[in-house]
Amino acid sequence: MKFFIDTANLEQIKEAQDMGILDGVTTNPSLMAKEGITGTDNIMKHYVNICNLVDGDVSAEVIATDFDGMVREGEALAELHDQIVVKLPMIKDGVKACKYFSDKGIKTNMTLVFSAGQALLAAKAGATYVSPFIGRLDDISTDGLNLIAEIRMIYDNYGFETEILAASVRHTMHVIDCAKLGADVMTGPLSSITGLLNHPLTDIGLEKFLADYKKGN
Ligand code: G3P
Repeated sequence: MKFFIDTANLEQIKEAQDMGILDGVTTNPSLMAKEGITGTDNIMKHYVNICNLVDGDVSAEVIATDFDGMVREGEALAELHDQIVVKLPMIKDGVKACKYFSDKGIKTNMTLVFSAGQALLAAKAGATYVSPFIGRLDDISTDGLNLIAEIRMIYDNYGFETEILAASVRHTMHVIDCAKLGADVMTGPLSSITGLLNHPLTDIGLEKFLADYKKGN
C-alpha cells in the first residue's frame, strides 16, 4: 500500500519523507489556501517545491470546470515537473479530460469520487488514480469504507489498472481498514501516518529495556 500525505505544508511533507515511508503527495485548492498559497504563480512554484522534496507522485488540481480549460491547465501543470499527476474533478468534462490525458501518457487522479459508478467511469477513462473521499461519506452517515470495498470488487472483476487512492482519510483506523480492503494508496494528514506508531506497550517495553541496560552499566 502506498502512503501519500494530503497537505501542502512543506514541513509536514518533509517530516513524512524523512521517515522513509512516503510515496507521494496530494493537494487541493483548499489545502493550498490553508497554507496561505494563493495566486497561480505562487501555487505553481509551490508544486515544484513539493516535487523537489519527495520522490513520488504529486497530485496538482485543475481549477477549470470545462474541457478546454482543464486541458490547458493540466498541460501547464504536467510541464512543471515529471512527478506531477493532473487532478481532475469527477464531472463530465473531467472524465473527458481524463481520457485526453491518459491517451497522452500523462498521469491523472480523478477526485471528488463518492460512488462506485463514478469510480467505474474513472477507470474507463484510464485514470491513473481514483480518489474516493471516505471521511466525507462518513460525515453524512454513509459508510466510506464500503465504497472502497465496492470499487475494489469492480476493478478486480475486470482487471482495471486504475489505482484506488483512498482520500479524505482522517485517522489511523481509516488507514488500517483501507489496507485490509485492498486500497492501493491512502492519502491523509501527517497525524494519520505518525499515529500508526503509537502503542503503549512499545513505550513501556522500551522504557524497561533501557532501565535494565542501565542496571548492568
Ligand atoms: O484527499 C481529499 C481531502 O483533501 C479531503 O479531505 O478531510 O477535507 O474531507 P477532508
